[in-house]
Amino acid sequence: MKIIAIMAQKGGTGKTTTATTLAYDLARLNGPVLLIDADQQGNASQIMGAYDPTAWGVEKLLEPDTDAASVDDLKQTREWQPKKKAPAVRVDVVAASAALMDANMDVAADTVNDQIHRLQERLAAVSSAYKYTVIDCGLLLDMAVLNALVAADLWIVPVKPGGFEVDGLLRVHEQLEELRQLNDGLELWVLPVMFGKSNTHKAVMAHLRSLGHRVTLATIRRSVIAESYTAAALPLPVYSPRCGVAKDYEALAYEVVAWNDESEGKA
Ligand SMILES: Nc1ncnc2c1ncn2[C@@H]1O[C@H](COP(=O)(O)OP(=O)(O)O)[C@@H](O)[C@H]1O
Ligand SMILES: [Mg+2]
Repeated sequence: MKIIAIMAQKGGTGKTTTATTLAYDLARLNGPVLLIDADQQGNASQIMGAYDPTAWGVEKLLEPDTDAASVDDLKQTREWQPKKKAPAVRVDVVAASAALMDANMDVAADTVNDQIHRLQERLAAVSSAYKYTVIDCGLLLDMAVLNALVAADLWIVPVKPGGFEVDGLLRVHEQLEELRQLNDGLELWVLPVMFGKSNTHKAVMAHLRSLGHRVTLATIRRSVIAESYTAAALPLPVYSPRCGVAKDYEALAYEVVAWNDESEGKA
């Protein structure tokens, strides 16, 4: 099982859109997927139709060993039918809500038990049930997000074409160095999102490629559909299977599949 964390320390950079769309596409193309919402806003849970602030969610996975619930106790299975005769696409979701805020504080205050390998341990218990776990992170490096990045094989940072967003990558570089002390196998991909074809955007792209990180071949275009799909409580490729942004994300999913096959020695 490969664990992929979607994280950027900016709001509104397409983290949740990337996490939910990638989870859906990987499930459709390549095998069983678990999506973990690690953001107390619960946006990924909403998009997957799994938001329920009265039910237990991801916060239970962050409790110390003896109390912690398992993924199987918390997961909700979601299913969509992309085309009439196509097989159903299924994603298991562990949802988040404001309860995660308290859990973050509890983990930070608990200096008796291990604080940063909790998610990794809970996920190890389901590693044979899923091919991928995708984790949607909030924009703060809180305990849930730290647990996600310590557990992850791959960290995808979506970057928008604005000066501040690109500058934020300098921080990412420093954080990656630090995270690799805790998780030496962690890989980083920069995913350009909300890009157009203007010369300014082309210049930003060239700059991104010059920073020394792997930039994905997939570039996600800016689109009106991606701006407006969130109210529908559906993954973007279900809401609009043929839109350009869904195609861009499909290319990203194929890139992830190729990366996984390569690491398993299949390619
Ligand atoms: N490719 C895109 N083009 C246009 N709007 C987008 C695109 N991706 C996401 N959005 C919109 O941008 C906003 C933030 O996206 P979201 O995925 O929630 O980001 P984050 O999780 O980083 O806050 C949402 O309103 C979403 O509809
Ligand atoms: Mg989000």
